[in-house]
Amino acid sequence: MVDQRTAELGRKPRGARAGAHAPGVFISFEGGDGAGKSTHIRFLESMLEQAGEEVVRVREPGGTSIGEQLRAIVLDPANREMRGEAELLIYEAARAQITSEVIRPALERGAVVLCDRFTDSSLAYQGAGRGLSEEFIRAANAFATGNLVPDRTILMRCGDKQEKKGRVSSREATDRLERAGDAFHARVNGAFDRLPSTDPARIRVVETSGKHSDTARAIFAELADLFPWLCDGSPEVEAALQDLDASHRKSHVVAGAADAAAEDMDVR
Ligand code: TYD
Repeated sequence: MVDQRTAELGRKPRGARAGAHAPGVFISFEGGDGAGKSTHIRFLESMLEQAGEEVVRVREPGGTSIGEQLRAIVLDPANREMRGEAELLIYEAARAQITSEVIRPALERGAVVLCDRFTDSSLAYQGAGRGLSEEFIRAANAFATGNLVPDRTILMRCGDKQEKKGRVSSREATDRLERAGDAFHARVNGAFDRLPSTDPARIRVVETSGKHSDTARAIFAELADLFPWLCDGSPEVEAALQDLDASHRKSHVVAGAADAAAEDMDVR
């Protein structure tokens, strides 16, 4: 998180662009489970807000009252009998709702929308993961969103080992998709690897194996045409990046201490 030391960036101009959603900007984030999207989405959100942008941060499935109810159904591990077709249609229903209720109005107001997963997740999880027709999923995505496509998609990739660790070591790994097994997640990650070649101008890969600030810089570089000030090396941006690493180190120490305490008490 960016703390108070980070000075107000002041209102910064956006890059010139023939944007599909002008006046707003629509950015989605994708990647396998455990890719570590949320830290970076929140960090980008805080940077953009300090630069005077209205930011709308949402997640899929969810982000609306109907979408959150659908999320509870689709992720509930008790729903073992759910068919892949039903799963896809639940994701698409949640997507239709959030697109019309939240995303389009925000883009029309001129906001920057940061979306944690969007249509590409259905191609990877329900297409490659569940083996449903890619052609049908593309049509369903277009139907649910009224052909809305993000201006940019950041595909976060952390490597197989890290992905597995991030996914299974998480103690709250209790949702239906997280429990789908290693072979399922290998197919999903394979699909994400192939995705950028289908739309290289939109889908940009960011590796997450280095420091948090390195990942953030890589994300900023992929958004440089939209928000040039993110990459101009200004002291405010540099200070925020240092704070990001510092707060991550701090949370690591706290998590490490909690793990050690849990080990001592044999409560695992
Ligand atoms: P979430 O807890 O938001 O996962 P993450 O933090 O990894 O984004 O749960 C969403 C799950 O739903 C995640 O496992 C990916 C999956 N999903 C699909 O299978 N299809 C989709 O279209 C979307 C949007 C998500």
